[in-house]
Amino acid sequence: MKGIILAGGLGTRLYPLTKITNKHLLPIYDKPMIYYPLQTLVEAGIEDIMIVTGGNHAGDFLKLLGNGKDFGLKDLNYTYQEGEGGIAAALALTEHFSDSEKVVVILGDNILEKSIKEEVKAFAKQAKGARILLKKVSDPERFGVPALEGKKVVRIEEKPKEPQSPYAVIGVYMYDPSVYEITRTLKPSGRGELEISDVNNAYIQQGTMTWNSIEGWWTDAGTFESLFRASQLVAEKKFQVLGSGLRV
Ligand code: G1P
Repeated sequence: MKGIILAGGLGTRLYPLTKITNKHLLPIYDKPMIYYPLQTLVEAGIEDIMIVTGGNHAGDFLKLLGNGKDFGLKDLNYTYQEGEGGIAAALALTEHFSDSEKVVVILGDNILEKSIKEEVKAFAKQAKGARILLKKVSDPERFGVPALEGKKVVRIEEKPKEPQSPYAVIGVYMYDPSVYEITRTLKPSGRGELEISDVNNAYIQQGTMTWNSIEGWWTDAGTFESLFRASQLVAEKKFQVLGSGLRV
């Protein structure tokens, strides 16, 4: 299975922090943001990874990460997204890299407390389709939100005004190779982007979507509040591990 980190976009919600750098290079406590999703993939046993970036500061990823030696990797692959086409448009750029294997896609601003190794293992055994991960949140209207009938996800709504459940679809998506066919059928949403929720809805309609909810905390880091919160959570985890019990 291959890994893909989506780290493009202009990060306008974090302006002026993102005026002179890419959002995914900003600090989360003691490391650049992109370190966390990269570590999540590596810990799940994924070694063949492509980073999709864009904007004016793309070269800085190469300076920071090189061939991924600090993460125990032999090499890293990079590609460049022109413009602001959305998450699904960024994913579409990785078709050649995926080489007809399954992919685990992670958004470059998503940080998880726990490993996704078991979820990746479960998806490796899944014959076809996709898998999403859910987390209960207090503000589902900020995310992709599943509508559930019993244990079945029947649809995902992107940033709904009236969320149908208290869950967010987190930015970790597992897809079979047919995902690239699906991206070719998408139409831009109201915000002018190809939405990852539309990709997920296509799998739901085919009846090939599986899901599980995750243990441990999860956050994105694309707004001032979530960027701050992400640093707090990472710091707390670090000090818990060290046994000093720091609360920030
Ligand atoms: C994106 C997705 C959304 C998902 C979220 C997770 O939102 O569109 O479905 O729940 O990432 O971080 P965005 O960060 O583009 O607002």
